[in-house]
Amino acid sequence: MKTPEAFLAENGLPDARDIDRASLIATFLSEMEKGLKGEPSSLMMIPTFVGVGGKVPAGAKAAVLDAGGTNFRSGIVSIPPEIEDRKNQPMPGAKGPVDVEAFYAAFADEAKRVLPKATAKKIGFCFSYPAEATRDLDAKLVRWTKGIQADGIVGQFVGKELLKRLGGGEIAIVNDTVATLLAAKATECGKTYSSYVGFILGTGTNCAYVEHNTAIEKLEGLDPSGKMIINAESGGFDKAPRSRFDEAMDAKTILPGTNPFEKMISGAYLGPIGLEIYKAAAKEGFFSKAAAERLAGLPALETMDFDNFTAGCKKEGRANPLDDIFSDAADAKMARRLGLPVFERAAVLTAVHLAAFVIKTGEGASSAAPVAINADGSTYYKTRAIPFDETVRRELDDMLVKRRNVHYEITPQVDDAPMVGAGIAAML
Ligand code: BGC
Repeated sequence: MKTPEAFLAENGLPDARDIDRASLIATFLSEMEKGLKGEPSSLMMIPTFVGVGGKVPAGAKAAVLDAGGTNFRSGIVSIPPEIEDRKNQPMPGAKGPVDVEAFYAAFADEAKRVLPKATAKKIGFCFSYPAEATRDLDAKLVRWTKGIQADGIVGQFVGKELLKRLGGGEIAIVNDTVATLLAAKATECGKTYSSYVGFILGTGTNCAYVEHNTAIEKLEGLDPSGKMIINAESGGFDKAPRSRFDEAMDAKTILPGTNPFEKMISGAYLGPIGLEIYKAAAKEGFFSKAAAERLAGLPALETMDFDNFTAGCKKEGRANPLDDIFSDAADAKMARRLGLPVFERAAVLTAVHLAAFVIKTGEGASSAAPVAINADGSTYYKTRAIPFDETVRRELDDMLVKRRNVHYEITPQVDDAPMVGAGIAAML
């Protein structure tokens, strides 16, 4: 009988050591260049009209809305980072379809609740979906990701529509990667960085970085001496080889074929990939008959359960279906051996992705002024199956420092960075 590793490799999921890092970095960079020129590319490379030179006014308070993956948060943000009057609710459209009016009503209600306590005129809105940015910081939704079901919003200027329902006002909408970059920039003390990358790995994934205006060929009329944050929408990268398991999982998502890279590394998808692997492995006879039968009855697998099981951890107060399915020790061992490579691949691809953006900044030549990577997101910080952050750093040390003499630093996490950064965008 073949080994589980051979079975995975045969189906396109190789050992993480065999991933061709250098060629993927080169492909990422070439897709970025094409996107900046306005040529066909899987990377949208959205100019955000947000720079990194602004100074946050002391004592200001901003009303903030944060439409993330599955959560919609709101509150009042001040700097140094503090959030008052927080509220957290499910993101409209995350649990089933919503119509246009119900969608905006949720945001309008929260805006009305928090606005009276704000001193900044603009509402800060962190909108974590692919959207074209306008010069006045509105956002036109290109498509939903993360399974949100609110079709009527696609193509709309979300800020304009929300303000219409509020009877006026001003708004600054930024992507969560842009917000994370701004939050970390505003809270660094006494450090010298040559450039910045904002990175999210949670339900979804994406990178933003600082680019010279001269490189943004698809936009005319920019100050050539300036720099601007680019929202790459890097989850859309479509040049990383997918396995049969990725393809089978993708076919069952709400928007098959979109965001293939995101679907290989982020929180909404690792569990579902694991389930595809287990089901295919059961057919090949890798599990006992009893486990295979129990597995056949499992309709879905959440990343949290897949991760905890692979890590051999129990989460208090949460029953993990995999503990029952693989109750036999030999089955459990096999399931872990089949699951681990999913996390190892995600960490290597995360590092490849980050390395490409650090290189794209064109900075980091000296260790005295590294490129700052501001990371946020539950998958990055809470994965337990492997030491995720440590693996990414080890990979980056090799890909960037050792091989290219490019210096980087993953900066300390800023709590609630997306909300804080949206507050900053409103204050600037
Ligand atoms: C969205 C991005 C977002 C990322 C991280 C992706 O699904 O398209 O806009 O930055 O998730 O939240």
